[in-house]
Amino acid sequence: MSVRQFTNKAVPDDVLRGILADAARAPSGGNLQPWRIYMVNGESMVRLREHLASQPPMDKPEYDIYPPELGEPYRTNRFAVGEAMYATLGIAREDKDGRRRQFAHNNDFFGAPAALFCFVDRGMGLPQWSDLGMFLQTFMLLAVERGLGTCAQEYWAVRHAAVRSFVGAPDNEMLFCGMAIGHVDESAPINTLESDRMPLDMWAKFV
Ligand SMILES: Cc1cc2nc3c(=O)[nH]c(=O)nc-3n(C[C@H](O)[C@H](O)[C@H](O)COP(=O)(O)O)c2cc1C
Repeated sequence: MSVRQFTNKAVPDDVLRGILADAARAPSGGNLQPWRIYMVNGESMVRLREHLASQPPMDKPEYDIYPPELGEPYRTNRFAVGEAMYATLGIAREDKDGRRRQFAHNNDFFGAPAALFCFVDRGMGLPQWSDLGMFLQTFMLLAVERGLGTCAQEYWAVRHAAVRSFVGAPDNEMLFCGMAIGHVDESAPINTLESDRMPLDMWAKFV
């Protein structure tokens, strides 16, 4: 479950190292292990936030976050989760400013004290991008096991240059996504959001 409000309780570097090391047990085709991770925590998160504030607010994304023509049922799914999220916060459909403000919390990692950025060598293809997903999902599950919460953030694809200049990633690496990491604010209404899933028969067939 994605967490979109964190407490400011610190996460020790050792805990993050442990999760990273265990997450690297994720499978990858040919065992290429194509993930390249930049972890930001504690004091360096403070510097990252300052850096981001000094950079252009938006870069042209290096990949399409969604297909330009999002057909059904994907379009409806995307719309539904947005509506459900704003409903948990009592933000009405016509309250464009309220929606924009909530979206902008992406830029503050939803208050998280730690974050990671997942890059991949530009020479890697679609199969290796799926390996990134396996690594990230494994990381997210291990984080829960250690009492933490996370939110994957493709949002950072629209600030890839600002992220790159902070983490020092080489040009041959491309940013896939970020992830906010920390302790879940259990009192936050947004963290009660339970997103829908399509009925199994819509996407799985026994043949
Ligand atoms: C690769 C990836 C990128 C995502 N990027 C964002 C993001 O930028 N901002 C955000 O609020 N949620 C982001 N999400 C979270 C999804 O919106 C969320 O997983 C989906 O709505 C299902 O909800 P759940 O994770 O709570 O079950 C991302 C998820 C994935 C897997």
